[in-house]
Amino acid sequence: MLAKKTDAKKILLSGVKPTGRPHIGNYFGAMKQFVDLLNTGKYDCYFMIADYHGLNFIQNASEMQKNIIELAIDYLAIGLDPKKCVLFKQSDVSAHTELAWIFDTITTMPYLERAHAFKDASMKDKEISVGTFNYPMLMAADILLYDTDIVPVGQDQKQHVEYTRDTAQKFNRIFGETFKTPEAFILEDVKIVPGTDGRKMSKSYDNDISLFATDEEIQKAVMTIVTDSGLTGGIGIPTNVYAIHELIRDKEYLDKLYTEKQGRYKDLKEALIRDLQDFIRPLRDRREKLAKDRKKVIKILEKGGKQATKKANEILARAKKNIGVIFK
Ligand code: ADP
Ligand code: TRP
Repeated sequence: MLAKKTDAKKILLSGVKPTGRPHIGNYFGAMKQFVDLLNTGKYDCYFMIADYHGLNFIQNASEMQKNIIELAIDYLAIGLDPKKCVLFKQSDVSAHTELAWIFDTITTMPYLERAHAFKDASMKDKEISVGTFNYPMLMAADILLYDTDIVPVGQDQKQHVEYTRDTAQKFNRIFGETFKTPEAFILEDVKIVPGTDGRKMSKSYDNDISLFATDEEIQKAVMTIVTDSGLTGGIGIPTNVYAIHELIRDKEYLDKLYTEKQGRYKDLKEALIRDLQDFIRPLRDRREKLAKDRKKVIKILEKGGKQATKKANEILARAKKNIGVIFK
């Protein structure tokens, strides 16, 4: 159950685009903190599947459907308990797109042109969609519709939360106090997780280790990790192997292991394989069980959609009164 207003819990909201299987970089860079923060019991939490943001990338109905269900299962498998938080998909709450339009009218083109994500996208492709350009306004609506206090995100989303804060303040200046200004919650000490080729782990580089990988997949992926040494612990310490190992084992254990096995890359990789398999196995087992009951997953999303709609509509009505389209 969500806490009542009188409990004065802070409100937390975050989202992930349903664009494919999560990897351990996504988990340690962003998703793990969702679970950790939920389990503190200090927040009323909303976790969203950002399917309308995903529509900029996935334009095929069966793929979209599959990805939405898969992400819902991922959320459940990492420990987001729907009894303790609201799990929903963005497209079930039409207030998001409605508020995004309102924000579009108070936002300028040069301001959106300065967004990193837009700059990166337009470097790759000049024919960029209006949806990609407007991305930060939909994200601002996602966040501001819940009177959100904190937004746990990965480092790369920091600017988007800044845009959300600016938009809340600009709206409040023009139309009077309406939106709370949220804070980003970013784990500053979380490093970029390297992929098997040493670059940032990313779906688009095909260098990732799935968060739900099988034992064989883990074995295969770890064996291909490039073993340059030097940066982390000196000669004989394979930097990328260590960087992944460090996510799941403490420093004391690793110091001992990497000193004993210095320079023996095969042994170190084998140790990482065992540790990753032990870490991933329970997550994967939980995921497999959940995946058997697709209907239950859909029900969870439907219920979450209703809960989210109730809250979002109240706040949208506040904004619509303040702009003058609902009569006070
Ligand atoms: P990808 O690059 O695989 O497409 P996304 O861009 O969808 O990943 O990232 C989703 C979230 O996961 C972001 O908030 C981002 O900060 C985090 N993330 C992605 N890759 C990494 C990584 N290699 N290390 C740490 N965090 C990451
Ligand atoms: N832009 C985020 C990403 O690419 C996903 C997202 C959409 C989001 N709406 C959000 C994150 C609201 C936090 C809050 O990862």
